[in-house]
Amino acid sequence: MTATDTSNDLDAELRQIAEIARPTARQGELADYIPALRDEDPDCFGLGLVDMDGTEHMVGDVDRPFAIQSISKVFALVLAMQRADRAEGVKKELWGRVGVEPSGDPFNSLVQLEHEQGVPRNPMINAGALVVDDILADHCGDARRELHDLVNELVGEEVALDDKVVHAEGNTGSRNRAMANLMLSFGNLDNSVDDVLDVYIYQCALTMTVRQLARASRFLANDGVDPATGRQILRPPLARRVNAIMLTCGTYDAAGEFAFDVGLPCKSGVAGAIMGVVPDRYGVAVWSPPLDPSGNSRAGKVALHELAERRGLSIF
Ligand code: DON
Repeated sequence: MTATDTSNDLDAELRQIAEIARPTARQGELADYIPALRDEDPDCFGLGLVDMDGTEHMVGDVDRPFAIQSISKVFALVLAMQRADRAEGVKKELWGRVGVEPSGDPFNSLVQLEHEQGVPRNPMINAGALVVDDILADHCGDARRELHDLVNELVGEEVALDDKVVHAEGNTGSRNRAMANLMLSFGNLDNSVDDVLDVYIYQCALTMTVRQLARASRFLANDGVDPATGRQILRPPLARRVNAIMLTCGTYDAAGEFAFDVGLPCKSGVAGAIMGVVPDRYGVAVWSPPLDPSGNSRAGKVALHELAERRGLSIF
């Protein structure tokens, strides 16, 4: 923080940012493939920052839970990287079976997967997350439980699972099922399609609030150490790699635009939340359900742009 950067300044600025960003949600569209997303209030808006000493700066609907959806891909990757850090074989397996290149394609695209012999471009698109979940299913006693425990730990309290979302995602996941089958046909899936989808659907249906997401991303801003507990969640070079993947791949085919306009590692989800990392400073989260055509929160992106611009937070 600069000498003049008091908590009051920051809170006032967050309120101004919310005023600017909130109305832009009207230019977006709610995801409509399941009722929980279709029926969400499009006017909800929450923005929050948690700093390294635990001070929380919050504005708007920051305590209202939503399904974290694709943001869970970060937590699944972290769990897989923890396993990979303990066993060279798992490390080779992880980075041999999923890449680290931006896809430039929609998050649920099948086309690239066919061209690239069933090896997904990165762990932030659906196909990549399915491979990560397959690896978790192989190397965790109970992948769903361990993932849920990791999220609980990072948040400092129990987060809930939305059973309705689990049920609805199970009934609508034809493209994910197709991707898993395609990867199975290329030999890039060990477990059954159903078992892998069970883990994926479970992680998407974990529900969190803006406050909780901002808390949960803080370890990535702090060289892999959770500032709340002092526990090293990932070694520093690994935490940096998660940030690199979030920056280059976390907002799908809009990752370049996010790097340009926001300049922070971010991960979005189809419920309209975005989790961000400001290295050495803050865990950040924003939630506004209407999405832009890339599947990222319309007003969320505006808010992050304003925040990064006004506070000079871009990593570049
Ligand atoms: O796999 C799906 O279709 C969803 N359950 C999650 C996708 C998601 O959040 C993509 N985000 N923008």
